[in-house]
Amino acid sequence: MSQVDLVEVTKTFPGGVKAVDGVSLTVRQGEFLTLLGPSGCGKTTSLRMIAGFEQPDAGRVLIGGRDVTRVPPYERDTGMVFQSLALFPHMSVLDNVLYGLRMRGVSRTEAERRAREMLALVQLSGYEHRRPHQLSGGQRQRVAFARALAVNPSIFLLDEPFAALDAKIRDELQVELRRLQQRVGITTVFVTHNQREAMTLSDRIAVMRDGRIEQIGSPQEIYEDPATVFVAGFVGMTNLFRGHVVERAGRRVRVKTEEGFVVEAELGAGTGNGASKDSAAAGDVAPGKPVTVSVRPESVRLEPRDQDARGGSPAGVDPSGGGQGGIPVTVDLIRFVGELIEYHLYTPGGQEIIGTYQRGQRTLSMGQGGAAIVRFDPKEARVLWR
Ligand SMILES: Nc1ncnc2c1ncn2[C@@H]1O[C@H](COP(=O)(O)OP(=O)(O)O)[C@@H](O)[C@H]1O
Ligand SMILES: [Mg+2]
Repeated sequence: MSQVDLVEVTKTFPGGVKAVDGVSLTVRQGEFLTLLGPSGCGKTTSLRMIAGFEQPDAGRVLIGGRDVTRVPPYERDTGMVFQSLALFPHMSVLDNVLYGLRMRGVSRTEAERRAREMLALVQLSGYEHRRPHQLSGGQRQRVAFARALAVNPSIFLLDEPFAALDAKIRDELQVELRRLQQRVGITTVFVTHNQREAMTLSDRIAVMRDGRIEQIGSPQEIYEDPATVFVAGFVGMTNLFRGHVVERAGRRVRVKTEEGFVVEAELGAGTGNGASKDSAAAGDVAPGKPVTVSVRPESVRLEPRDQDARGGSPAGVDPSGGGQGGIPVTVDLIRFVGELIEYHLYTPGGQEIIGTYQRGQRTLSMGQGGAAIVRFDPKEARVLWR
C-alpha cells in the first residue's frame, strides 16, 4: 500500500471545461478516501488522473512518493473498478480474474492459484466457470473487485461501482467492500455522488464542487462541522437560515434571520479551515455580516406555543432577540420514517423547517396544525458564510 498525493492538479478539456481546478489532496496509506460531489464536479477526472488515463495540464500526481505524472497507467500499480465493471462477457469468471496476471507474464498455474484465492476472498468459490451473464449484479461486482485486486496493486480505485444496483444489494456490498479493503489493507479512492454511501464507507471524505475540494474530513467532521453552506446541504439534511450577525462573543454568534427572529449558533472547528475560498474565516464573522445558520433536523427542539398568540408577537418569542429567541412555527405534516418521526414545520414567512425525533421519545404533544416554537442548542447550530 502507498500514499497518493495530488499537488495543485488542474485539467481543462477541449472546449474550455475546467473539470479539475487546482486540487491538492493526500490519501494516506491504507486509508479509504471518498471523492463526493454532484454529477460533473470532477470526481471521475480526478480518479482517472490518479490511474493515468488522463493527463493533468498542471500539477503533479505522486504514488508512494514517486512522481508518476508522466507514467503510463500500466506502470502505476493501481487496480480500478469502473461503473460499467467492464468484465469480459465471453470469458469465465476465473479467466476474467486471471487475465491481468497473465498480461503481466505470470504463469498459468500461478495465475490460477492467485485468481482462486481472490475469488475465495470475495466469497465466489464455486463460481469459477460461470460467465458474467450467469451471475447476479452483486456477484458481478465482486468479480470486478477480485479482478482489480488480483494483481496486488498498491492503490485501489473505484468509480461509482454501486450506482446501478438496488438499495439492498448496495448496502450488502458496501459492507463487503469495506471488509475486503480492510483485510487487504489497501489505500483506496472511491468515487460517488451518494452522500449516504460516502458516510458509511469512508475514513475521510473530500467534498467536491465545480472542480475544487470544498472540504475534507472524517464523515463525522463533515456532518457536524460543515465548512460551507454547500457542504451542509449536500451531506445530510439540514435547515438553513439566512441572516445577519447581531453580536459575537468568541465562537458564539447571535444572528437575526431574514424573518427577524434572533437565534444563536457557533462557529465550528471546520469554519475557516475548509479548502474553499467560500468558507468563513472566523475573524471575518462580525456584526452586520451576512451569514447562514445550519441546524440539523435532529437538533431541532419543539415546544408547544399558545395557539391564541398567533396574531401578534407569538407567546414566548422575543423578536428583538433580547432573551430567549426561538422561531414560531406551525406543524404542517408529521411523517413516520422508520424509527424516526419527521415534523415538517412552517415559519410565519413560509420557510419550511424539518425536525426529526426518535420514535417512542414521546415528548411531543403537538399534532398537525398545532402551534410550536423551534429552539436549538447553539452548540449544535453552525454559523456559515453565505
Ligand atoms: N473527455 C471529456 N471531454 C470533455 N469534457 C469532459 C470530458 N470528461 C469530462 N468532461 C467534463 O468535465 C467535467 C467533470 O466531469 P467528471 O470528472 O466526469 O465529473 P463527475 O465524475 O464528478 O460527474 C464535466 O463538466 C464533464 O462534462
Ligand atoms: Mg463520474
